[in-house]
Amino acid sequence: MPQSLTKRSTRKLSEVARHVVIPSGIVTSGWAPVEERCREFGDEFDEWQRGAGKVMLAKRENGEYAATVGGITLSIPRQVAKTFLVLRIVVALCTLFPNMTVLWSAHRTRTASKTFGTLRGMVGRKAVAPYVKSVRSVNGEQEVHFTNGSVIMFGAREQGFGRGFDEIDIEVFDEAQILTEKALEDMVAATNQSRFPAGALLFFMGTPPRPVDPSEAFKARRREALETEAAVRRGEVVESDAVYIECSADPDADPDDREQWAVANPSYPHRTPLRSMLRLRKNLPGDASWKREALGIWDSDQEGSRAIAEHEWSATGIESAPSEGIRSFAVAFSFDGTRLALSGGLKHDDGIHVELIDAAEGDIASGLSALADWLAERWRHVALIVLSGAAGAPVLAQLLKDRKVPDVVVKIATTTEYMQSCSMTLDAVRDSAAAAKRNADVDRTDALGPLAFTHLAAEGQAQLDASVGVCDKKQRGTAGAWAWAATVPEGDETPTESMSLAYWAAKTTRRKPRGDQQRRAVFL
Ligand SMILES: Nc1ncnc2c1ncn2[C@@H]1O[C@H](COP(=O)(O)OP(=O)(O)OP(=O)(O)O)[C@@H](O)[C@H]1O
Ligand SMILES: [Mg+2]
Repeated sequence: MPQSLTKRSTRKLSEVARHVVIPSGIVTSGWAPVEERCREFGDEFDEWQRGAGKVMLAKRENGEYAATVGGITLSIPRQVAKTFLVLRIVVALCTLFPNMTVLWSAHRTRTASKTFGTLRGMVGRKAVAPYVKSVRSVNGEQEVHFTNGSVIMFGAREQGFGRGFDEIDIEVFDEAQILTEKALEDMVAATNQSRFPAGALLFFMGTPPRPVDPSEAFKARRREALETEAAVRRGEVVESDAVYIECSADPDADPDDREQWAVANPSYPHRTPLRSMLRLRKNLPGDASWKREALGIWDSDQEGSRAIAEHEWSATGIESAPSEGIRSFAVAFSFDGTRLALSGGLKHDDGIHVELIDAAEGDIASGLSALADWLAERWRHVALIVLSGAAGAPVLAQLLKDRKVPDVVVKIATTTEYMQSCSMTLDAVRDSAAAAKRNADVDRTDALGPLAFTHLAAEGQAQLDASVGVCDKKQRGTAGAWAWAATVPEGDETPTESMSLAYWAAKTTRRKPRGDQQRRAVFL
């Protein structure tokens, strides 16, 4: 037993975690003084916990936490040590630095109170007590104040706790799988005024979400981390400003295989005894919740998500496109410039029709002049050619200029215009899908009727269909604006983006092409 205990407690983070994604540009870490302070308090960490601590408090050349922008996300099962580790880090930092303000929220009141109770026990220790000024628990307020002015406040998000604070240095989101982007935005705004020199820190800790959990924030963080990890594996140099650590059993684990329990839980059995796991097994009804909560396994069907529902997309698809109207083109480049898509938008009497014309991947640069030629041949018959994406738009704009396409026809979309195109398109699809349903209810023989938004339902549109099927909203900034993002590692957002921009161009442009407006609208 003592031997296995040593062996277990000396395994490294990389040996116990399924995914460890660390920020770029790390030069040092703020972990050593924290560990020392915890030792003074009487706590010792297992090797993987030390590894996690070092990564979470890693710093860049400028002395800031490497994860101060992207935050720290832990997808770690129950009874592993999430609370143990993060609570100790937070308490140590509070005693090391004066006037730190920490908000510790859980989704549920019970969870927040339990952690407050744990801290209460901890600050009662002889070694910790001298640092503590007071422990308050009145009118639902649960706070620990330190003699140096630091404070930790506990509360439940289900009770609205966490809004309306300012100058917060650390926020901990326990049960982070239940947290909407909106709630998150409202809460993290408080860290903007943090005066902590190394930057504010956000901890998101939780278990894989249930299908019903409002979990966009947690899922998005995991998705981004796995994309970073995949890029690093491909040997790419990636800028990253977030920490992600995931512990889980094998995806196909037998729920009662205790070896898999140990794979998922690096604290089992030397810290978390068998009886705790058995108790948890009794309390988690059904294999599905056990797999998520105790084994940390993500539902595979949650890997991707889409904003435009399957039924909305099919309701707005038509088999033959309207032929007359005012055409626009839109080209979207991926962030890294390795993918692009070209779509057309046609404004006709009843609404706007969109189609994907082409999508390409790989050596984009060499294909750009061919694309410019193609567009230059057609510019006389289009109102607008919109370009989006800093990785390619300016270059393509120049190529069009070189080909004498007039400036009034070519427009590089601003970020605001791009995001406008995203939400305008989503609204249009939804409105039209709803209208299609109403029409169908009224008169089954004429199911569609004129729709404000249509796209081509045809084999040739498979790339657009696939892209729409994996694209979801990704919040940008705090004003509720969002961009399209692919929600699976191999997903491509550019077809959906170019389709949205083509819709936007057709909708907003007041230009009429000089060429023959009565010509048949043929994009190719
Ligand atoms: N280094 C350590 N020293 C002492 N105890 C530890 C250590 N690491 C983990 N533990 C113990 O492991 C158990 C599980 O830890 P903790 O309560 O932090 O789990 P958790 O991941 O927050 O789980 P839950 O989701 O159930 O809250 C606790 O009893 C904790 O004290
Ligand atoms: Mg916990």
